[in-house]
Amino acid sequence: MIPFIDLQAQYQAYKTEIDERISNVLKRNDFIMGKDVKELEEWMSNYTGTHAVAISSGTDSLMIPLYAMGLKEGDEIITTPFTFFATAEVVSFLKLKPVFVDIDSDTCNIDISKIEQAITPRTKGIISVSLFGQTPDLDKINEIAIKHNIFHLEDAAQSFGAIYKGKKSGGVAEISSTSFFPAKPLGTYGDGGMMFFKDADFATKCASILNQGQSERYSHQYVGVNARFDTMKAAVLMAKLPHYEQELQRREEIALGYSNVFTSPKAVPLKRETFTDRHAWAQYTLKVEQRDKVKDLLQEKGVPTAIHYARPLHLQPALAYLGLKEGSLPVAEDMSKKVLSLPIHPFMSNDTQNIIIEHVNDVLKLV
Ligand SMILES: Cc1ncc(COP(=O)(O)O)c(C=O)c1O
Repeated sequence: MIPFIDLQAQYQAYKTEIDERISNVLKRNDFIMGKDVKELEEWMSNYTGTHAVAISSGTDSLMIPLYAMGLKEGDEIITTPFTFFATAEVVSFLKLKPVFVDIDSDTCNIDISKIEQAITPRTKGIISVSLFGQTPDLDKINEIAIKHNIFHLEDAAQSFGAIYKGKKSGGVAEISSTSFFPAKPLGTYGDGGMMFFKDADFATKCASILNQGQSERYSHQYVGVNARFDTMKAAVLMAKLPHYEQELQRREEIALGYSNVFTSPKAVPLKRETFTDRHAWAQYTLKVEQRDKVKDLLQEKGVPTAIHYARPLHLQPALAYLGLKEGSLPVAEDMSKKVLSLPIHPFMSNDTQNIIIEHVNDVLKLV
């Protein structure tokens, strides 16, 4: 079976640097928020032009800023129903109300033209999601947020490394967040995340809340949580970062290799926006008419695929209390029946990609 992603090949390629960084942590014993965490935050701040604060996961990187804003129960947060559950989960967990706006069928990102209709006097913010590695039109969402005096948080869990109109994903909205889950374009060996802030004071507040609300040791200014980041995981990222530009370039090459050949109406690649200077290609996704059959046939041929996402969030049992029925967000529901992601990772050889392409073309002839 062809691997869907290949973290082992990546480890073998960077083994010396990764092992050395980890070994240095073991020698220093600064396991939590140690030297590599500080270095990583500095790197991330410079890269995005924000105040970057490391955190335990992508989920917590969404949760902590929302919590720190002190929103009230029932306050409304607009987001997309076509994302990983965490995006809306944190909203619901904090007793805020997720308000879903349907998606654009070309990109599967939020349909920006529908956002303003969803704004009410209780709306406090918009969480945009840069799905599969491509941002939506972030400037337009910023404009809506400013006009209505609400916040815009970019969930960049899948798009770290993407460039939108010359600007880095993670550095465009007033708050952004990302995930270093192992399978993400920039992943560590375990859970991890980063928050990005334009406002230095709010960054300091969130950094304190994720560390039991401490302003200094044993002085607790806020009621917070333990959502700290581990040094070994930062060490892994610091070892991977010097290679990241090259990895992103390779992802672009592979994506282009797919997009150049998949021209049949039976399998349509998601659109690459003209404002996308670089796509992070967390997923390479096609819209396929007989998706489940194509998936099964590819599986038989040893080509793994994935479905992101088979059920939009408004139809998840945990969010049934919102009362949104099937048919309420038709584009997201339709896409959940069509999307199919193919293997993509920077260590995929051209030969492997050609085998995948051949199998996909063969299977498409059968449906
Ligand atoms: C869009 C999106 N938001 C949030 C998350 C949550 O990140 P994590 O798994 O690091 O908590 C993920 C990743 O799984 C994601 O894809």
